[in-house]
Amino acid sequence: MNKKGFIFDLDGVIVDTAKYHFLAWQQLAKSLDIEFTEEENEQLKGVSRVRSLEKILAWGNKTISQELFDDLMAKKNEEYLGYIAEMDDREMLPDVPRVLNFLKAHKQPISLGSASKNARTILERINIMSDFDAIVDGNDVTKAKPDPEVFLIAAKELHMSPEDCIVFEDSVAGVTAANTANMISIGIGSKDVLGHAHYVFNDFTEISDDFIKSLIEK
Ligand code: BG6
Ligand code: MG
Repeated sequence: MNKKGFIFDLDGVIVDTAKYHFLAWQQLAKSLDIEFTEEENEQLKGVSRVRSLEKILAWGNKTISQELFDDLMAKKNEEYLGYIAEMDDREMLPDVPRVLNFLKAHKQPISLGSASKNARTILERINIMSDFDAIVDGNDVTKAKPDPEVFLIAAKELHMSPEDCIVFEDSVAGVTAANTANMISIGIGSKDVLGHAHYVFNDFTEISDDFIKSLIEK
């Protein structure tokens, strides 16, 4: 059988943690008296912690010292870690295990491609670390999505060329990163938000084994 590299984003694709990032950023914005809307949150999805805070401050027209910046970043992460402290495999999004199992049964290389520095902690909590042939996360990159760096490193670690890689992403920035890397992008979420992806599904329950097979054989 053909081989393709399958690269999964983490937050909002494998686990429902996008809502926790949102809550933590919302709290932080409020403490700075900055209004923070759902639309603005869409622009933070997939984006690194540093870049997210820079964007929030720019939206609120605020300049702060480096010391306060570092302090706020630490606080946001503390709050986020509080949300995920009790996490287990029940927080995995529907049919993610089926798709991972299908790919493993067909010997397809699998990588994580996440902006999060907490990715390994989460994979351990939900007990799927061993499903991945490579893990590329926020600790391994210097450029945040929409830069394609994270996915290009993942392709390299899987020994696959970018054109033979398929990326599952829930964020605008992540789909752009996958497209820029010359990969097939599969948006997980709404067509209104992820219209620039090659394919869009609301969630993995809409992604059939036959569809995955067709990607492998392409
Ligand atoms: C991405 C999330 O996966 O990781 C973003 O979509 C988040 O919302 C980014 O800011 C960085 O995550 P962390 O866990 O390193 O703060
Ligand atoms: Mg995501």
